[in-house]
Amino acid sequence: MTDTAKLILEGKTYDLPIVVGTENEKAIDITRLRQDTGFVTMDSGLANTGSCKSGVTFIDGEKGILRFRGYPIEELAAKSTFVETAYLVVYGELPKATQLKKFSNLLNASSLIHEDMTHFFFGFPRDAHPMGILSTMVASLSTFYPAPEDLTEDMENQLVANLISQVRTISAMSYKKSIGEPVVYPSIKLKYVENFLNMMFSSPVKDYVQDPDIVHAVETFLILHADHEQNCSTSTVRMVGSSLANIYSVVSSGVCALWGRRHGGANQEVITMLEHIRDSGAKPAEFVERAKNRAERLMGFGHRVYKAYDPRAKILKEICHKLLAKPGMTDPCFDIAMELEAIAMKDPYFLERNLYPNVDFYSGLILKAAAIPYDMFTVLFAIGRTPGWLAQWREMTHSEDFRLARPRQIYTGPNERHYLDMKDRK
Ligand code: CMC
Repeated sequence: MTDTAKLILEGKTYDLPIVVGTENEKAIDITRLRQDTGFVTMDSGLANTGSCKSGVTFIDGEKGILRFRGYPIEELAAKSTFVETAYLVVYGELPKATQLKKFSNLLNASSLIHEDMTHFFFGFPRDAHPMGILSTMVASLSTFYPAPEDLTEDMENQLVANLISQVRTISAMSYKKSIGEPVVYPSIKLKYVENFLNMMFSSPVKDYVQDPDIVHAVETFLILHADHEQNCSTSTVRMVGSSLANIYSVVSSGVCALWGRRHGGANQEVITMLEHIRDSGAKPAEFVERAKNRAERLMGFGHRVYKAYDPRAKILKEICHKLLAKPGMTDPCFDIAMELEAIAMKDPYFLERNLYPNVDFYSGLILKAAAIPYDMFTVLFAIGRTPGWLAQWREMTHSEDFRLARPRQIYTGPNERHYLDMKDRK
């Protein structure tokens, strides 16, 4: 293969370098394009733009492959824990036993937020969306734990631990405040997921009894969400991080981007959709027709990168089968989801557009079974994605070609005109 691409523009030929990744993904390097030719590229939704080189996550959307640092998502989901996967994603290698212990201890030691911050929760309206609270509180961490401009390795490790651990504490506390219960503090005796569930559901008058199947399901949910290369929120994290903003603001910007219903907000929308079908008595086939006619969107279907079945959705569907078969845990919404999938997967509309279930299609059913309130679904996604945001931020800030992200545009507004006094305006 040649290592340059030829571009002919206004009669002149330019050689553009080709960049090839370790999985043979190819890109045309246009770093010097504007400088050499005066042209920029246009790419709506950035669907053809490689914004960086990254060694964190590999996705083959056509084949439905997802790997973190080379490890297939199926193996991590089956064998790893969220804390171990977080270490892998952030630091690049599976930890040895001592490294994992040290990392776990650091997460535990960093899990409290400054007590004065707990007062902030009183300032939010009772019905505030927890993603709004989470983004505000994460940004506020910068005022209590200011990060110096030049970070030593130890400081950076501490910031990573603060965020992975405190995002979980803040999330659970915001829920407690929203239901008018006292906050529950993290416990050194509990592991990451158990700790979160305990902070969410125990109270001074009732202990929370852990169900290992629920713990496993939530753990798997978090592992599957740990990173997903240059998605909307991660690109936001890189964009904001490129200005050298402090890491708390950077992660807060990721939370904001994740909130939208085309991105992380879809998991909440899927359950709303399934319950709407259940309660309205509409047939799933009718709903699919409405989605084809654009009267609805089949939430949890379609993906910018996957043009095959999302491998995360496969794993979550499997967990739904096991979890929702337990006595007392059956959910008619699961049957509706499977019927929607079966209908869509035979319909040319979905097949021709390569629209398959994505990670959000089955994840909400798992969170619902764990009694997580619907408006906390995207918060759970944010807890899971925090290691990925941190990994991408670290990778970017340590890379040799680290620059301020500043795209160009093609201006389509009015040409130069001159200020009119009020009396002259028509
Ligand atoms: N239901 C019905 N039609 C759809 C759907 C859907 N869920 N998704 C895409 N289409 C159609 C769309 O109308 C378009 O049709 P046409 O070519 O006739 O105009 C075609 O498929 C291509 O869609 P697109 O919107 O141009 O594709 P995109 O890559 O810009 O959007 C998406 C990807 C995820 C935003 C979109 O598929 C969607 O809105 N899905 C539902 C929301 C959802 O589940 N989001 C979670 C994404 S995965 C988790 C994450 O990464 O955060």
